[in-house]
Amino acid sequence: MQTVNKSVNILGIETSCDETAAAVVADGRVVCSSVVASQIDLHAKYGGVVPEIASRAHLENIYPVINAAIEQAGLSPTDIDAIAVANQPGLTVALIVGVTAAKTLCFAWDKSLIAVNHLHAHLQSAMLGEAKLSLPAVALIVSGGHTCLYNCRSPLELELLGSTIDDAAGEAFDKVASILKLSYPGGPVIEKIAKTGNPKSLKLPRSMLGADSLDFSFSGLKTAVLYHCCGQDMKGENKVSQMSQNEIADIAASFQEAVVDVLVKKTKRAIDKVGAKTVLLGGGVAANGYLRLRMQQMCDSVLPDGKLLVAPKQYCTDNAVMIASLAYHKFKAGLFADLTLEPKAAGL
Ligand code: KG4
Ligand code: ZN
Repeated sequence: MQTVNKSVNILGIETSCDETAAAVVADGRVVCSSVVASQIDLHAKYGGVVPEIASRAHLENIYPVINAAIEQAGLSPTDIDAIAVANQPGLTVALIVGVTAAKTLCFAWDKSLIAVNHLHAHLQSAMLGEAKLSLPAVALIVSGGHTCLYNCRSPLELELLGSTIDDAAGEAFDKVASILKLSYPGGPVIEKIAKTGNPKSLKLPRSMLGADSLDFSFSGLKTAVLYHCCGQDMKGENKVSQMSQNEIADIAASFQEAVVDVLVKKTKRAIDKVGAKTVLLGGGVAANGYLRLRMQQMCDSVLPDGKLLVAPKQYCTDNAVMIASLAYHKFKAGLFADLTLEPKAAGL
């Protein structure tokens, strides 16, 4: 009798920050559904994510989002092989909502539970369309909460090479947008107005932290923009309200140029260090078109095949497809969690 290979359907759940997301992915690559309830509007007036508001919104959204993901996949709970959840890193009060929902459903539906590191899952978004990966790869994750470089030997073998010692790249975009009195989240709006600005107009620092360092620091850059707008002694009022659109665009373009310079140079350093054949780019800031362009130019000049894999834009920011996709590798390797799983704020 002929055996039919049944696909492995994994339900992924993501609540690490301000998106409540669920998705069903078959065999780690086929996206059957992806549902994201964004809280951007709730946090916008505070200029950043407020943990208690995030937690409450996750509670309201979690089961409707999970139900929608299963329904949109055209499946029923019996078709799900395992439930995967991001349990670290992130806001504990946010993570706990996803972790509790996943554990409850595993218990009620008798499913296996898989714990996924949110940052490692961001990398998975970059690998989604790729059948065969040339390894090792250097992976850069640039998000609102993290900036990390990894040596990726396989989806489950990641060695942390460096991370930010202060602000994350996305956080710097958000804070500079706030200084420039632009809307939240800052990344997309800075990218948009930077297109009309002169990136050389303002001399801003590029912190490289020594010749060999693979760590990042963006707080000095953010402070330089703050001093430019409010004066060195911070006694003057923020001059942004009196600036022309062109002046603001020049600041945005100079800031973006400085961030991208550092990200590209550090990635090049990491390639040299590990002899990488491929670069993977993921996280919310990877949606930035200028970063993508400059990273591709660098990869073209230093990698044999110029192989840069970037997450599709809809999977750069937080989503559950990446959670279910990475969980597939854990499923295959038999790496399951149990119902004592707890959320953890840290874990790069
Ligand atoms: O990965 P993500 O959704 O959430 C975290 O895990 O933190 O990333 C959100 C971050 C925000 O800081 C946002 O400003 C930034 O990604 N971002 C961008 C762009 N789109 C989103 N930064 C620069 N350019 C963009 N186009
Ligand atoms: Zn993220």
